[in-house]
Amino acid sequence: MQIITDPVEMQAISENLRLQHQLIGVVMTMGALHDGHLSLVRLARKKAGIVIMTLFVNPTQFGPEEDFDRYPRPFDQDAALARSAGVDYLFAPEPGSMYPEGFSSSIDPGPIAERFEGRLRPGHFRGVATVVVKLLNITRAHIAVFGEKDAQQLAMIRRIVADLNIGTKIEGAPISREPDGLATSSRNIYLSSEERQHATALYRAICHAGTETARGRRDLATIAAEAESIVLSVPEAKTDYLSFVDEERFEPVAESVPGKAYRLIIAVRIGATRLIDNWKFECEESRDE
Ligand code: PAJ
Repeated sequence: MQIITDPVEMQAISENLRLQHQLIGVVMTMGALHDGHLSLVRLARKKAGIVIMTLFVNPTQFGPEEDFDRYPRPFDQDAALARSAGVDYLFAPEPGSMYPEGFSSSIDPGPIAERFEGRLRPGHFRGVATVVVKLLNITRAHIAVFGEKDAQQLAMIRRIVADLNIGTKIEGAPISREPDGLATSSRNIYLSSEERQHATALYRAICHAGTETARGRRDLATIAAEAESIVLSVPEAKTDYLSFVDEERFEPVAESVPGKAYRLIIAVRIGATRLIDNWKFECEESRDE
């Protein structure tokens, strides 16, 4: 595995790989790698001949009150994990080479970036959109794998790639979970052992929604309220949002329609730690219709 820090060098390598007819897959990360990230690498390995992982804690997607400074940066451990997962190139630039003096352009992702995660974190999705487009241009990837864990981010990236004719195929990867259901996340290390136990409430809320929708219930707003009461039953939990939305535009939905796909999206603060999770389902045609 080669470690590259210079965007110009990375782009030249990728251009050369393309000239050799290599299929390039990219997995973008902010490091502090866990099994969720590595599952993305495994998927990229299946789809592409060369796998590039980008590792960059992108300053422009953090708000002023957020955890940019304390975000974990275990670089040597990350490099070892990336190497053993089969990454060919680890692209780990410095902020100064991604945002040199005079940098001023950005991508406006439109309305999807103004709801839920975007409403609570102003500027976040603009920062993500801009860095993702930069990293696609630098790596020249044919395929880019993103986790469904960040479902709104994934939907926004699909929108941008389609709108701007970017030509990279976007692959979604399923959410990787701990044995008790908690979605793996670089931020889970912020949780105390007690908070870690309470954090399973997110998955219990998802399971409740799964059971109730499987019974044929279509009153999604009521199911969401029940799921929220599960989350709020643990001490120190506060919901930023918990709602069913439609798959593409992330608009809230109160009642499901057979044949359509929906997603339950959850953002919860447990103590000082913010956790997100989600679950996709398709409303089945009912048997007696
Ligand atoms: P980061 O939070 O490091 O996540 C990198 C990728 O790993 C994203 O595609 C994310 O959805 C995926 N991921 C994280 N946890 C996962 C899990 N439990 N299961 C499956 N996939 C998971 O998302 C970002 O970084 C940044 O916004 C980035 C896209 C790199 C732009 O800076």
